[in-house]
Formats: sequence, structure tokens, C-alpha cells
Amino acid sequence: MSTQQSRPKRRGIGDLIKGGAPIVGLTAYTAPIAKLLDPHVDFLLVGDSVGMVVYGFDSTLPVTLEMMIAHGAAVMRASSRALIVVDLPFGSYQASREQAFRAAARIMAETGCAAVKLEGGTEMAETVRFLTERGIPVMGHVGLMPQSVHAEGGFKVQGRGRDEAERVKADAAAIAEAGAFALVIEGTVEPVARAITEAVPIPTIDIGASPACDGQILVTDDLLGVFTEFKPRFVRRYTELAPLIGAAAEAYAADVRARRFPGPEHCFGGT
Ligand code: KIV
Repeated sequence: MSTQQSRPKRRGIGDLIKGGAPIVGLTAYTAPIAKLLDPHVDFLLVGDSVGMVVYGFDSTLPVTLEMMIAHGAAVMRASSRALIVVDLPFGSYQASREQAFRAAARIMAETGCAAVKLEGGTEMAETVRFLTERGIPVMGHVGLMPQSVHAEGGFKVQGRGRDEAERVKADAAAIAEAGAFALVIEGTVEPVARAITEAVPIPTIDIGASPACDGQILVTDDLLGVFTEFKPRFVRRYTELAPLIGAAAEAYAADVRARRFPGPEHCFGGT
């Protein structure tokens, strides 16, 4: 008889179910955080928000494929249960569907993740179809698309006014129809996100859109109160780690300067 304990099965794209219990997602970029979040979520997104949260860039645009692969691989190594989705970074997929396939295939082969996410609406539908028909599961991302920050003139809430509302709805319908398995709706007025959720057959994932969506995602550093540059309206902070980290660093510095650290218990004996 085997004494090996069976490991919990890692979730796949089929485990994100529309209309069931709300789907829970968080971002993760590093192994220790992925390990802590893994038991509690349905999916972890290795988001290109890593550029702003970890690297201190003003936008997600400088993030490279190599960065996404390195962070994606770290998150995969440290997790065993959650579905892992890795973002395609800016410039790695917009030029052509073949470019998108090469970038997505590298991410999947070099990280072991099960799916990629890309931003875009009707203009990306052909690419989403090309990828999904070739075995690459795609999570779509419509509404506020941070990779379009310069084209949009800032991080602006989407779907205001009839024309914009219709455009976001058409984007969502096109990405769903092209074969995406789920759809992030970011920074979009609530009635539009609600209407999309009712209209598309795939689960919608809310970030600054609507509680009616099939699931939720937050940037983990926002939830933990570590990223304090700004706090979007849609963020709820579940704890405030920034002051704790500052206080710990202050206490450590004081101990070192007063020669209170290290103590004898931190030293190795000579024999
Ligand atoms: O990069 C990211 O973290 C994202 C989420 C905001 C959905 O795309």
C-alpha cells in the first residue's frame, strides 16, 4: 500500500465556472507570496502590474517577456493548487497573431502555467481565436486596459456614455466569441460590466467594475497595504503592512546602531 499522500489537484481553466460560487483571484509575482495565497484562491494572476508594484515603473509598458517568464516560473514553483495565469506583456502580442503565439508558447513552456491573459477587444479577437485554436487558453481583459494608458490619455474609467458602453460590450462579446475561457473587466461603469456578465457565456472577473461579475481579482499588494503610491476606489485594504514594515526596519536599525543585534544566540560557536 502506498504511504504517499495524494497532493491536491491543481485547478484548470474548466474549474472557473460561470454562475457558481464567486471565483477568487489575486495577483502574485514571487514565490513566498504565491505560497501564502495558493490555498485560498481559485487562480493566481502573474500580472504585468508587476512592473508598477515590484519594479516601480509608472506604467506596465516597460515589462518584458523575460520578466513575466521569471515571475511566472517563481509563482508556479511555489504553488500547487491554484490555476496560474500569466500576462502577455506590452509589445509581445499586438503585432501579429504569430507573434502572440510565439510569446504565449514561450510563457507556457518556460513557466508551466496553464493560460495567458491579454488586453484588447475586437481588434484582438482574431489573435485570441488563433491562440485558442492552437491549444493556448486565453483570459481576455477589456474595459480599462493599462497597456493603452498613453493612447487613452491616462487610467480612465470606461463605458461612460452610450457609444463607449456599446464599444466595451462589443469588445467583450468579440473576445468571448473568439474562445477566451474567462474575461477580466477592469475600470468599467457598473451597469456595463453587469450587462456584459449577463451577455457572455464565459466567467467575468471584476476589478473596479461590478459585484455582479462571476469573480473578483485584486492586486495583492493593494489588499495588503504594501503598495501605497495610490489607492484606487475599487480597492479594499484587508491589512496595512506598510507601517509594520517601516516599524520593523526602524527597530532593526536602532538595534544594530545600539549593538543590541546580533546577540550571542545569533552566532555560531567555534567548535
Ligand atoms: O496586471 C494585473 O495585475 C492585471 C489585473 C489588474 C487584472 O491585469
